[in-house]
Amino acid sequence: MRILIAASEAVPFAKTGGLADVAGSLAVAFRGMGADSSLIMPLYRRVREHFRLKPLGIEFSVPLGPVTQTARIWTAARAKGVPAYFIENDFFFDREYCYGTPDGDYPDNASRFIFFSRAVIEAAIRLELAPDVIHCHDWQTALIPLYLKSVYRSRLPETASVFTIHNLAYQGRFWHWDMPLTGVGWEHFTPEGIEFFGKINLMKAGIVYADEVTTVSPTYAREIMTHAHGEGLDGVLKNRRDSLAGILNGIDTHDWNPATDKRIVAVYGPDDLSGKKLCKAALQRECGLKRSARTPLAGVVSRLSGQKGISLLASACEQILGKHDIQLVVLGAGDAALERRMQRLAGEFEGRMHTHIGYSDEMAYRVYAGADMFLMPSRYEPCGLSQMIAMRYGAVPVVHKTGGLADTVTEADDGGNGFVFSGFSVERLVAAVERALEAFGNRRRWAGIVKSSMTGDYSWRHSAREYLDLYRKTFERTIGHVA
Ligand code: ADP
Ligand code: GLC
Repeated sequence: MRILIAASEAVPFAKTGGLADVAGSLAVAFRGMGADSSLIMPLYRRVREHFRLKPLGIEFSVPLGPVTQTARIWTAARAKGVPAYFIENDFFFDREYCYGTPDGDYPDNASRFIFFSRAVIEAAIRLELAPDVIHCHDWQTALIPLYLKSVYRSRLPETASVFTIHNLAYQGRFWHWDMPLTGVGWEHFTPEGIEFFGKINLMKAGIVYADEVTTVSPTYAREIMTHAHGEGLDGVLKNRRDSLAGILNGIDTHDWNPATDKRIVAVYGPDDLSGKKLCKAALQRECGLKRSARTPLAGVVSRLSGQKGISLLASACEQILGKHDIQLVVLGAGDAALERRMQRLAGEFEGRMHTHIGYSDEMAYRVYAGADMFLMPSRYEPCGLSQMIAMRYGAVPVVHKTGGLADTVTEADDGGNGFVFSGFSVERLVAAVERALEAFGNRRRWAGIVKSSMTGDYSWRHSAREYLDLYRKTFERTIGHVA
């Protein structure tokens, strides 16, 4: 099976969130299973600055409405055995950020990712990759399935498409006059196609035209077919019910491994947590918190956005920190008002709460390793990787029962690995944290919960196999023979 993974971000090259973890680590997991996978993404400025790349000497033009843009293909030394290709176009991608500045999205994102989607297919042809399946991720690559069924049908007749929804809230909606940029005829601009309330909806192209659609957890797959979670696309998704699967994300358990992690103060494993105690003490020192092994330390590593339940958390903090002996470290960036709110709270509870605004891989490791608990009260969560990383590092998660959080965390009061609340309210969140605090007070019980968190299987083993089975079935059904 030859698989080409097309994504707008992938570790280790560029990352704004879990999509990058998934695209990068899934490609590596496939290689470990003998499948032939490669990765293709835009050549952003930071990729050029941080990685040694090689031009392949392949250059081509991509029509974009009345103009054409040039694409050049680069490659990187194989990251963990996976060939990675990069589409260079400095006009579109030589920028500081992937999608926009802190002030908002880049105004030409439609052009940038229409260009990228088409360049992926052109690159696959020119590199003679002959993929059996192009696995497309989120709206930035969602036009690829439509291209394979229209403009490129005769040139890539033996390539099937799988489209994965990582977050239905970001759909790539643009005004209808961007339609000519796609090079796809207006006959596709219909309610059955990519039209959505008078606009183009790129995510809808992926949902409608992909041979198979997936999302990143079984619960989210069910939720997005409801009015409450469907973001206006629940009807479209229901139409594809027979081709919609929920496959739980995994994490790269080699990279996220407290037993070998060189970035933390001391390594540790489920049977000997003494290293974790040192990590906690180091985090307390770094964040100006009282050094105390007995005081529970809760961590948050998150985009600060409405999705993540940050304002619920802020309201709950006042009660939790006001009433209990607990410390809190927040690492996050995003919405300016939420950033200010978390900083204000840290000022109010100085010495017990620390907020670090920014994106820092290094600090993220230290928070996961140093925290006893991990708070993730997301309003909705397609899958969520942070709670899995936290569990791997022995930080017991406290989560809202939604999407992938519901599929990965089970209530410790019923023998599970964390604390789960139903009903998105401050009271329910506070009650769940209080259950966690009570358990923390009982050393043996807490050790049992930490152990069940740490020993869960969060690897790609099962899910990568599920994807491979799905690719095979999709290929056979749509192309008509065995790959
Ligand atoms: P989402 O993709 O919705 O942001 P996930 O839980 O799937 O949520 O993935 C988030 C990923 O981004 C995790 O790897 C997490 O550690 C990382 N992350 C989030 N915020 C930060 C931050 N401020 N600094 C460093 N890493 C972060
Ligand atoms: C999105 C979702 C998150 C998921 C990630 C990777 O960013 O918000 O829940 O884990 O994609 O699939």
